Amino acid sequence: MSATRASTSIVKGLLGVAGVGVGCLAYAGLYEVNAFRLRRVAVPVLPSGARPIRVLHVSDAHMTPYARARQRWLSTLGALEPDLVINTGDNLAHEDGAPYVLGSFGRLLDRPGVYVWGANDYYAPTFKNPLRYLKGPSRSDRRPERTLPWQDLGRGFKEAGWIDLTHTRASLEIKGVRLGFRGTDDAHIDQDRYAEVAGPIDHEEIDVAIGVTHAPYRRVIDAMAYDGHDLIIAGHTHGGQVCVPFYGALVTNCDLDTRRAKGLSKHSAGGRTAWLNVSAGVGTSPYAPIRFACPPEATLLTLTSVSGDTSAA
Ligand SMILES: [Fe+2]
Repeated sequence: MSATRASTSIVKGLLGVAGVGVGCLAYAGLYEVNAFRLRRVAVPVLPSGARPIRVLHVSDAHMTPYARARQRWLSTLGALEPDLVINTGDNLAHEDGAPYVLGSFGRLLDRPGVYVWGANDYYAPTFKNPLRYLKGPSRSDRRPERTLPWQDLGRGFKEAGWIDLTHTRASLEIKGVRLGFRGTDDAHIDQDRYAEVAGPIDHEEIDVAIGVTHAPYRRVIDAMAYDGHDLIIAGHTHGGQVCVPFYGALVTNCDLDTRRAKGLSKHSAGGRTAWLNVSAGVGTSPYAPIRFACPPEATLLTLTSVSGDTSAA
């Protein structure tokens, strides 16, 4: 092959690779980032004979006034009329975001709900080099003031009757089943103090124990499993956000393994095992508005009887 023909082939190859890259980026930023899915899973944790309980898990909305498609899709979820909503934080990405979150949740606010906060409820997003995520969990070198309107959002949630689980225990009776909750603040910014709610689950008092936290760091979910929680609910990972088709996530942005970056799995610690649901989340940071092989989602968990004899709803 002559030098001219060889260099022409190289240029064509580079143009081809660049074309594929641009195509993937366009797909990720124009289509998949708004290709919302409702993931449905069944979790056998209820007492024998109990009726199914439908729990909607929403997380990581990262809401701005301009995220219209996200707002529209979230507002459709009220039609599911879940028995309970669990919100695992990172609701905001803009100082004017609170009314857009509350407006999008709409009818969901008429349902019983519990929530915890994530770093992106407190702190406005900043640009981060995406390659840093491959080295390990992102860390901010500076601790800016809490500039996002998480307190306004909290007021809206509380007016709706939702329960803030930050370092708190709470219980709700739904369809005759006593659900017990314990929650923490965000472990990603070292605000978790699980010790404040720790202790063995008392199954004389509650039927099903649910741990709720934003970021599924091992120290938090280990402690929750060790205490005897039946189910742990978390967000934060965005499911890896930019994944490899037929392989999965490359990162979780915490110390959870990438196999469990999203979805329902089990987590064991101290000889006890809990179900773990990690949401891939509804949104993204405005500085990384792309998703690839990891569509945005909410999860509808149907809690069923452990013995498989759940009665009709
Ligand atoms: Fe997030």
